[in-house]
Amino acid sequence: MAIETTRLDPVLLTDEEMHQFLVDGFLILQPTVPVGTHETIDEKFTWLVEHETNPGNNILPRLPELNLVLESPEVRGAIISLLGLNYLIHPHRYWHYKKPSDMDPDDHEKIWAQVMAGSHQDSYSPSRQPKSHHLRYARFMYYSHDVEEIHGPTHVIPGSHFHAGIADEDRAREIPVIGPAGTVFLSHFELGHAAGVNLSDRVRHMIKFLFMRTEEPGAPSWQSTSTVWKTPEVVAAPYDLEPAWRHHWSWLCGVNGTTETAPAHETGVIDTLLTRLNAGSQIERTCAIYELAVIGNEVVGPLTDRLSAVGEQYPPNESPYQAIRGATVTMDDAAYTLGAMGADAVESLVGLLDSPHEWTRINAVFALGEIGSKADCAVPRLVELLHDPFHGVIRFTANALGNIGDAGAQKALCHLLDTDSDAWKEPAEMGWSLGDLIHVNVAMTLARLGAAAADSEADIIRHLNHPCGQVGIYLIEALRRIGAPSALDAVVRDLAIRRWDASLHDKRQF
Ligand SMILES: [Fe+2]
Repeated sequence: MAIETTRLDPVLLTDEEMHQFLVDGFLILQPTVPVGTHETIDEKFTWLVEHETNPGNNILPRLPELNLVLESPEVRGAIISLLGLNYLIHPHRYWHYKKPSDMDPDDHEKIWAQVMAGSHQDSYSPSRQPKSHHLRYARFMYYSHDVEEIHGPTHVIPGSHFHAGIADEDRAREIPVIGPAGTVFLSHFELGHAAGVNLSDRVRHMIKFLFMRTEEPGAPSWQSTSTVWKTPEVVAAPYDLEPAWRHHWSWLCGVNGTTETAPAHETGVIDTLLTRLNAGSQIERTCAIYELAVIGNEVVGPLTDRLSAVGEQYPPNESPYQAIRGATVTMDDAAYTLGAMGADAVESLVGLLDSPHEWTRINAVFALGEIGSKADCAVPRLVELLHDPFHGVIRFTANALGNIGDAGAQKALCHLLDTDSDAWKEPAEMGWSLGDLIHVNVAMTLARLGAAAADSEADIIRHLNHPCGQVGIYLIEALRRIGAPSALDAVVRDLAIRRWDASLHDKRQF
């Protein structure tokens, strides 16, 4: 099948579709692709199941027709709308195929129990990245064939994307995502979901890709006609998170930090909201985060005191960052609050960076990153933290510098790529070393800096052959976004020698 060389104009989302996405955490699309695309992909998936192992992150060169879906005007338009024009495709992607189950199709209780037990929020790759409420990542799932309930569709928990975790009451709300061949399901990265049970007689194919934002929103990137928030009339989630929805709508419209004037609060009300952080029901927690963020200055003191104290709970090397292997790191609710508050919180958060407790430092770094460009005065101090004794702080600091997007960090970031201390050579998890984890975060940040990393072009080219493939993928993106002829020449030369011949197989290797 010929690959289209001309791109159709992206189909951007409407205000209503954006409202719905913020509330439910997902939307479903039907991409426009050349006739036969889904059938070709489905046949190739089925052939691969029988003849090869799962190519994992290398699936695109193995099955390049998937690009037709990723490049469709509906998918590009939706991703531009959600993540901004200069989004990146994250190197992690995974083809989930499900062979027919041997479960009794009439044992509905057992089937449902399996779906509920499998409910989860995804882990980032590589693991142990901070869970962000802001729309920085979107998950893409695609079916190459008609998927009905019998095929074991992905299930989803509407409105769970601001949750710190998935509770039993959430698991009970899983609904199946079904649709004809070509159905694309886009969701907030933190949305809870689960695999279904394949009770049909064919292999079910679904492939997941991740997209990431590179830049802070400066203005609506969708078909915007009004920046006034409007709660959708039909909400799939059975609760009201209006303070959160309003914050994230405002952020996507280009407003950094809170600009709303909080209603006058009695002291007792503020105290009640503070007690709901990290406690109470998930709904109360989420609303408390955003109601406190709007209050601003008046609550910076108690929130930073809380973050200062929370680190004391954990001895060195035993913070939640360390405890959760292979998963996403949920930060303290106070960090989400200060991160949503914006400029008012910066000075106090910078003060917390001197804390002797790693969990306090890591929360403060995270919150500064969530504030983004309005925390740019913290960049010199954050650059110093790239030498923190705790590798988790280094990784989160690299992330924060990517969110802030200041060119002043690039040399220190490149220096880290040259650093590989003996301690970092230790296997960390899933075959990655600590050095790999750190270097991926650094390379991701250089990709997000883009043109702001132009002075580091030679250093970036020098590391294209990093033994961890994700590092090179991000560095290619950094060079592409720098865009100078010499940078683009390095990109082409690197990719040309890695070009994959998808027509080869074990019977014909040439
Ligand atoms: Fe998942």
